[in-house]
Amino acid sequence: MHRREFLKSSAVAGGGLIILPSGARAGKNAPSNKLNLALIGAHGRAQAHYGVAGKENVVALCDVNDENMAHAARQWPAAKTYHDWRKLLDDKSLKLDAVICSTTDHTHAFVATWALNRDLHIYLEKPIGISVEESRVVRRKYREKKNKCATQLGTQRHAFPNFQRVREMVRDGAVGELKAAYAWGNRKLRKPGYLPAAGDPPPHIHYDLWIGPSPMHPYNPGYFSGRPGANCLQWNPYWDFGTGQIGDMGSHTMDLAWNCLDAEYATSAQARGEEYNPEVVPVKLEMHMQHPANAWRGPITVSWYQGGAMPNSPSGWLDLNRIGHGAMFRGDQGYLVADFQKRLLIPYGREADLSYYDPRPDSERIPPINGFQEEWIRACKGDPTQTRCNFDYAGPANEQMMLGLIAYIVGEQVDYDGEQGKITNNEEADTLTRRTYRKGWVLDG
Ligand SMILES: NC(=O)c1ccc[n+]([C@@H]2O[C@H](COP(=O)([O-])OP(=O)(O)OC[C@H]3O[C@@H](n4cnc5c(N)ncnc54)[C@H](O)[C@@H]3O)[C@@H](O)[C@H]2O)c1
Repeated sequence: MHRREFLKSSAVAGGGLIILPSGARAGKNAPSNKLNLALIGAHGRAQAHYGVAGKENVVALCDVNDENMAHAARQWPAAKTYHDWRKLLDDKSLKLDAVICSTTDHTHAFVATWALNRDLHIYLEKPIGISVEESRVVRRKYREKKNKCATQLGTQRHAFPNFQRVREMVRDGAVGELKAAYAWGNRKLRKPGYLPAAGDPPPHIHYDLWIGPSPMHPYNPGYFSGRPGANCLQWNPYWDFGTGQIGDMGSHTMDLAWNCLDAEYATSAQARGEEYNPEVVPVKLEMHMQHPANAWRGPITVSWYQGGAMPNSPSGWLDLNRIGHGAMFRGDQGYLVADFQKRLLIPYGREADLSYYDPRPDSERIPPINGFQEEWIRACKGDPTQTRCNFDYAGPANEQMMLGLIAYIVGEQVDYDGEQGKITNNEEADTLTRRTYRKGWVLDG
């Protein structure tokens, strides 16, 4: 097991012999060549990508806010500018290779699918989508294109060495046989409901394009009032624009757990939380997804807690509430507790001597990522399959969370056929796997 995992991951790190798809060493994908890159969502979170993007040819910028566009245009004055990402993606004169998308969550699955349909590499800010269907469509599209298009979901904490060490510990049996994984986040960002109408949008905000595929809601400057890079907190608590803490910090925290599970589709989900509000995603919530056995472990439960709901601590002297965003693994021999940077192993019993645990030698460690965005750039120019948070990995992590939200909304367990993407025991719940889009907006376009 250890050796197989090592061989697989050393190819990921570029340390092993990599067989590149034919043609990848020449032409536009040659490592020495620069990519023709577009930034869709040009300011805010996009600033975190300016450094990496600046080493390539940024040929196009898209933003629905002219003031934000102006920030990016100062960096790349020669880049062509667009308000509508669909027009950018359809402009063949750009000779695009790749896009970095940092728009609102309710547009992510659209931009990703459209980009992949045009054979473009894409770095997509998290989350991958805001429904079961969106998570699946983006993953399916990636699977069709994976030998041509490199993808990376923006869960950049994945490059912290702790992510690899936690996975090694779980896989090497630090908790014995794995039974359950938990992840949680402690934010409590409460909004009463959609913001009231506050007149016409100012001329620099192209509000209809900002709303995009979601149902129309009246303009209110509150949706745009956050500081750059954190403005997402002004709109992601609303169902039509995001999934609250789940799509936000939850994407990172569930990634810490998901990275260790080798899981696919949940078979069922249960959830409970505060009273349902049709306008805003709940603050306090917990959900529990059942996942079947795989080659190296039995069936497991994957749980998510937020907004004050927390798993029980394995010990009276450990206050899990002190870990703002954390993950925990329970096995038949003990617990492993982690945040993004540290980990703590708690074996059961006073006599525990860890003799059950077989840690791998240093020579078999999972190699480091060496730059998260850079890993994607390397994949764009070399082997497109070599990104660790590609959409094949990231899709089902979000899909199970979207399923948990449906279980919360309908207030009962939902049973799930992952191959079909269908809730099998509740027709009303099944309709919630899909969002209805505004006229003119096509997900798989
Ligand atoms: N990976 C991380 O750690 C991290 C951190 C912060 C934000 N994010 C993610 O980044 C994304 C953006 O977050 P933000 O706080 O920068 O939000 P934001 O509201 O500031 O939006 C970012 C930029 O995109 C533009 N934009 C919005 N919708 C657009 C559209 N349809 N077409 C073109 N441009 C559009 C905005 O005008 C803005 O310039 C979110 O999905 C969020 O989850 C990730």
